Amino acid sequence: MIRADVCNPCSEGYAPLSIPGAGGWTPAPAPPLNLSLPFAREFTYQNLRVFPNVYLAPMEGVTDPSFRRLCKRLAGGRMGMLVSEFVSIEGLTRFNPKTEEKTRFYPEELPFTVQIFGAEPERMAWAAQRVEEGGASAVEINCGCPVPKVVKKGGGSGLLKDLPLLAQICTAVRQAVSIPCSIKVRLGWSDDHVTVFETVKIAQDCGMGLIVIHGRTRAQGYKGWANWDLIGEAKSRASIPVVGNGDISTYQGAVDRLQRYGVDGVIAGRGAMHNPWMFAQIADLYEGKTPRSPTLREHRDVFRLFEQLLREEMDHEGRILGKLKQFSARCMKSLRGVAGARLELLRSESVTQYLDIADAFFEGLERDGGGEWDPGAVRELNGKNALEPEAGAAHW
Ligand SMILES: Cc1cc2nc3c(=O)[nH]c(=O)nc-3n(C[C@H](O)[C@H](O)[C@H](O)COP(=O)(O)O)c2cc1C
Repeated sequence: MIRADVCNPCSEGYAPLSIPGAGGWTPAPAPPLNLSLPFAREFTYQNLRVFPNVYLAPMEGVTDPSFRRLCKRLAGGRMGMLVSEFVSIEGLTRFNPKTEEKTRFYPEELPFTVQIFGAEPERMAWAAQRVEEGGASAVEINCGCPVPKVVKKGGGSGLLKDLPLLAQICTAVRQAVSIPCSIKVRLGWSDDHVTVFETVKIAQDCGMGLIVIHGRTRAQGYKGWANWDLIGEAKSRASIPVVGNGDISTYQGAVDRLQRYGVDGVIAGRGAMHNPWMFAQIADLYEGKTPRSPTLREHRDVFRLFEQLLREEMDHEGRILGKLKQFSARCMKSLRGVAGARLELLRSESVTQYLDIADAFFEGLERDGGGEWDPGAVRELNGKNALEPEAGAAHW
């Protein structure tokens, strides 16, 4: 049963805004990093402290336990939060084993949020209870997924078109669990239907402790830039912590967004595939150390580490190879002059062959002193230029 006494905003009516050009925003050039300017390094919501406040965004088909653990291991365990791929309540209520698998995490991943999607308040509440019983630290409601299959049923960014329903879902989930709750939204459905300020209000009124904002509309998909002015404006109106999201691929970029837009935290998705060391660099910075680039040896070892983590999770060689290929297509892009090696890796037919090629490539670079690493040089986060499509990327 949903208690109406906590929040009944459905009768109040919401007013999405028309903001022409919301999705055509261009960022001003980032000023040089100035660490003497203040910025948030942590936030707390509903008694859960998130420190460091720069963490990995959820990505279906990418942020499985192996990739999440890889990022956290590289950061020496210093990751404020990890989030699951989105989990269908449809699958959960049918006890689909593949769906249930997605809610699982290793103890080393804590604090851990499970993100759920759906459009029925009572089933969302039931799913949130399962998440709590499973030992997760927090639960998040996905209101950003643009995939037609999800949206058609009213879930994901479909909820941005039905704000009273979103409010009901938030209320139902809040009532069902005692762990912290958050929502992750896009700016709105389209430039004509910008809902970010309304979703901040709904989150606050309905007991959500945190709102995560991806600065694009649903209509935008991944085109253009994330509109950080609107994220900053939403933050200035919010009484709960706001985490901003969009286009971050370096620790300097993360600090810039924290400083310029005053958000409480930021998450990085596609950028972390290019630069999984970003979280280590942030943690070093927060400890007063100078963030450093990985050495060629560390770059090479990361493939072995990822393979080891994948093996702990799955035993199908083809799947492991597929994941390794997805990884190198992104991760090596930040190394200048590696196109040939990336292609060779993508063509490898076994994990052993793949690792041999990677070893030989990095040994060659070490010998010849080449291989300049520059994650900031990666302009195309969508992977349009990647040699193979990534799992999930076509839909998101
Ligand atoms: C392949 C892929 C899968 C994604 N899956 C999810 C998901 O399961 N849940 C979610 O909230 N967002 C998902 N997203 C959106 C990201 O969390 C993030 O909001 C978006 O990529 C923008 O951030 P970025 O510019 O740092 O990548 C996905 C994005 C990509 C590229």
